[in-house]
Amino acid sequence: MRRILVTGGAGFIGSAVIRHLIRNGQAEVLNLDKLTYAGNLASLASVADDPRYRFVQADICDRAAVVRVFEEFRPDAVMHLAAESHVDRSIDGPSAFIQTNVVGTATLLEAATAFWRSLPEGSGQRAAFRFLHISTDEVYGTLGSEGLFTECTPYDPRSPYSASKAASDHLVMAWHHTYGLPTLITNCSNNYGPFHFPEKLVPLVILNALDGKALPIYGKGDNIRDWLYVEDHARALCRVLECGRLGETYNVGGNNERTNLEVVRAICDALDRLQPARLAALGLRSFHDLITFVQDRPGHDKRYAIDASKLCGELGWRAEESFDTGIVKTVTWYLENDWWWRPIREQKYAGQRLGGGKAG
Ligand code: NAD
Ligand code: TYD
Repeated sequence: MRRILVTGGAGFIGSAVIRHLIRNGQAEVLNLDKLTYAGNLASLASVADDPRYRFVQADICDRAAVVRVFEEFRPDAVMHLAAESHVDRSIDGPSAFIQTNVVGTATLLEAATAFWRSLPEGSGQRAAFRFLHISTDEVYGTLGSEGLFTECTPYDPRSPYSASKAASDHLVMAWHHTYGLPTLITNCSNNYGPFHFPEKLVPLVILNALDGKALPIYGKGDNIRDWLYVEDHARALCRVLECGRLGETYNVGGNNERTNLEVVRAICDALDRLQPARLAALGLRSFHDLITFVQDRPGHDKRYAIDASKLCGELGWRAEESFDTGIVKTVTWYLENDWWWRPIREQKYAGQRLGGGKAG
């Protein structure tokens, strides 16, 4: 059984990865997470009592804590997801992004390299060790109406978030080329699904609609993202960890391009169908009536779209969820799991505008 150190495992994607690893009996997992506003151990309730799962609360910038985790847990692999992840928050306060995404990744790389080098030369454990860095398609910048991001697309990050992730990708590549650390990188498109912190478009719109609040669409709503169901992503990451070629990058995408307006309309359609009583209680004809165009995000990237053919061709991965089925699953999950999101909306983040723009 592989011993996998997951950083950021209390976040949206990290918790999906841990649930996937434990459910499939593939690994013993140690979750290292600082529990920032975005970290939530409730997302791991289904695995919390499993003897193969452990949690350590620590900051990836805390060198002593990170070194201790490597020495005590002695991982076979690292899946590095800990990050500040929201573009709008990076506009309001970039320094936390530089600290965690850049300094934290460097700290983790140093600790991983020291641990990997301490393994006996020629041993199976040293040969099998892997460091998988999870990154974003936003490092490639923005697309016009044509073309897709491939693994060869030049880096052109344009927000403090994407610049900090680009820097972390470069550090990982540098550690591979300079020290020989057995690294892998994935760059994925926008994820959606259960346990998504409601500051991001999909969960924010679902919960605002249920509250009868405005559904804020930045600019004209014609920016395009390529939507990837989070459980498809978790499977892709496990596949890359097991079978990816060392030093390589793999793009992960859902092949589901939608404008933001189309995304919000799909959520409203699902809610109109699933929540007629709520609609009536709110005195609304349709949830579509809540759609509100608001001031655009500064530096808003126009279009992201991923070419995932390397991952599909080399490693046989496919996205199983289409956007049309995945968005209904996601809406249904939020309707059935208010125990998870209600404390967040009431105590952590109620949906106010972030990222410097005006609310409406
Ligand atoms: P998230 O914001 O939901 O979770 C991040 C987790 O990292 C949280 O549990 C938080 O507590 C933890 N964390 C933050 N700073 C930390 C620190 N200094 N030390 C230890 N833990 C810390 O993020 P997510 O959406 O799950 O994203 C995971 C990774 O995937 C990130 O690296 C992100 O850049 C990348 N990514 C996300 C998306 C997306 O659509 N969500 C798309 C592409 C790439
Ligand atoms: P988001 O979920 O923040 O992800 P990212 O910025 O990483 O792509 O935003 C997705 C898209 O939705 C992006 O184009 C910005 C837009 N958006 C809105 O129109 N309204 C909102 O309230 C939010 C949070 C995002």
